[in-house]
Amino acid sequence: MKILVTGGLGFIGSHTVVELQNEGFEVVIIDNLSNSSEAVLKGIVAITGKMPIFEKLDLREKTAVQDFFKRHADVTGVIHFAASKAVGESVEKPLLYYENNINTLIYLLQELQQKPEAHFIFSSSCTVYGQADTMPINESAPIQPAMSPYGNTKQIGEEIITDVAKVSAINAILLRYFNPIGSHPSTEIGELPIGVPQNLVPFITQTGIGLRKELSVYGADYPTPDGTCVRDYIHVVDIAKAHVIALQRLLNKKNLAKIETFNLGTGTGSSVLEVIKAFEKVSGQKLPYKIVARREGDVVSAYANTDKANNVLGWKTKSTLEEGMASAWKWEQKVRNNN
Ligand code: WQD
Repeated sequence: MKILVTGGLGFIGSHTVVELQNEGFEVVIIDNLSNSSEAVLKGIVAITGKMPIFEKLDLREKTAVQDFFKRHADVTGVIHFAASKAVGESVEKPLLYYENNINTLIYLLQELQQKPEAHFIFSSSCTVYGQADTMPINESAPIQPAMSPYGNTKQIGEEIITDVAKVSAINAILLRYFNPIGSHPSTEIGELPIGVPQNLVPFITQTGIGLRKELSVYGADYPTPDGTCVRDYIHVVDIAKAHVIALQRLLNKKNLAKIETFNLGTGTGSSVLEVIKAFEKVSGQKLPYKIVARREGDVVSAYANTDKANNVLGWKTKSTLEEGMASAWKWEQKVRNNN
């Protein structure tokens, strides 16, 4: 069975390609390399021994998407990662985000809705919950007004898929990630942020390796146990495995509805200071940091209620925060030593 993975050379995409291949799926990757590199293919092959089909293609080109599906008419399963995902950048360049995250989704669905059956897995985010009223957050928590154009594209994306699934043979699963961290234990693939990392964990590992002077902790005056924000940091391999389980659920027609939503988190909240402590423990070195002003748009706390993912999807995270930090650190050291 040939599965299309859009954004398959990206951070979560590449880890998912590995898990799909491990389960015997044939994978075709579409990636425009705007936030990834073709070298990731080598890492995937080093782990699985199998070269996925790769097509450098920009999903914003409608005719390119149509041609792709003519050439790969047997593709009925799609895992859609390709999207821009920097919250701050989305505020400065909203149209880039609406074009790249919405138009591309529409072109993919226009192709899939013509098929007698299709299975679609969408990379969504806990950002759709905004600041949820109760912790842990379950899937029926209200969708809050988006705090950024990036978050809005995830909300709109979910609505588009829901509407199309109702009137087509598309069955879909929306996966709302909390905070993905870490890298494959082989250190053949991992997170490759371009420029100054926006996210906490790559900034920590780049500080640890000496690439950044110190970490700025965005606020320590929040109503949390130690004053810093709380998030649910989940190992990227656990997230990747969830995608394979979700795809198999659709292929085996185990889905109870045309569209299902699952939170992907560990169920445990960790503060920024706890993440720093975890890094110091696994690296054996102190991390230089300073407390600065809060970052605009940050929610105080977000961590997942994992009951539905555990009991309905049949998936549970295996890795701890420390294991995630250890794999992120190991990857950082390898990337820097190779440069
Ligand atoms: C985590 C915590 C920061 C950097 C975003 C998106 C989400 C997903 C993951 C794509 C916050 C603090 C961070 C730093 C810091 N993206 N921080 N210093 O904002 O929870 O989630 O990325 O799928 O959709 O919203 O992740 O890693 O940016 O921040 O203190 O240099 O770390 O304030 O409390 P976030 P993050």
